[in-house]
Amino acid sequence: MTSERLPWIAHDPASLRLLELAEKVAGAPTTLLITGESGTGKDHLARLIHELGPRRDAPYLKIDCASLPPQLVESELFGHERGAFTGAVERKLGRFELGGNGTIVLDEVATLSPNAQSKLLRILQERAFERLGGTETLKIAARIIALTNVDLPAAVQAGSFREDLYFRLNVLTLTVPPLRERPADILPLAEHLLVGLRAAHGRPHAQLSDSARRMLAAYAWPGNVRELKNALERALVFSGVGRGAAGTGPDLLEPGNFPESVRAAAAGRASPVAGLRSLEEVEREVIAATLEATHYQISRSAEILGISRKTLLEKRKRYGLK
Ligand SMILES: Nc1ncnc2c1ncn2[C@@H]1O[C@H](COP(=O)(O)OP(=O)(O)O)[C@@H](O)[C@H]1O
Ligand SMILES: [Mg+2]
Repeated sequence: MTSERLPWIAHDPASLRLLELAEKVAGAPTTLLITGESGTGKDHLARLIHELGPRRDAPYLKIDCASLPPQLVESELFGHERGAFTGAVERKLGRFELGGNGTIVLDEVATLSPNAQSKLLRILQERAFERLGGTETLKIAARIIALTNVDLPAAVQAGSFREDLYFRLNVLTLTVPPLRERPADILPLAEHLLVGLRAAHGRPHAQLSDSARRMLAAYAWPGNVRELKNALERALVFSGVGRGAAGTGPDLLEPGNFPESVRAAAAGRASPVAGLRSLEEVEREVIAATLEATHYQISRSAEILGISRKTLLEKRKRYGLK
């Protein structure tokens, strides 16, 4: 028995095409690269590809490259034998071994240190490795899927990502388009996300009002599906204030329950003149929206916006943002 398939909401032609590609590549053992902005659904797509393919009953293992301590990369990935180094008191299996015949996902692959990049390159070339301190050569049977929100060719140009590793990873590449490029997905995704949120918040009858639906459909969602999910959760919490457990009347999520950024953008669009703005105004608005959506987490916001923390801090100051 296989588990129930992961729901992949796709209504827009752009995401239907992506789903079709995902079905095609699911059966292949080939290394896969999934690119796309933060929050577009890269993790979600990797999982779907695993479930659609012949490896669905084998392990699915995600390695968060950004949080892997550089000095532990080798022992984490390859494992080690007892006594391989001080503190190696027993044999430990690495992720490549634990992945078995399944799928290994390298999340945020562009954050690997140069040293880790060369180790990964060797693994991809040889499809074999030894545990630290070990002599036995182990074959890699798992399929490798790398995820990134970084423009890898640009990172190669800038010298922060190895070109030979990029070529190894870039055999089959899928790009998840940002939500603003597949607007027909916005409302179906909102409805889908609401199902889970209703249950989590004990609000079985919560629904979007018509004007809230129009507003969500008009917004550009710089933080993509993740921002949509956060905005819905916030609306659910705020619309519940004062309702009490026995709340009377329909449980509607109204535009006023959504973050200011979402409301402001939709209001701006209602007037044709307000739509004509300078690039600076647009930038200010997008930065403000992202900061609010991430609860003013600078690193997260910088990641979503695709700029460095330093640039974000400078712009925040220049635009006088909170
Ligand atoms: N097509 C989709 N259908 C259903 N849920 C989705 C879809 N795309 C993204 N999600 C949900 O949106 C959130 C963000 O997706 P995630 O895969 O973590 O994005 P990324 O890895 O690109 O930052 C997750 O909760 C995910 O389950
Ligand atoms: Mg992710």
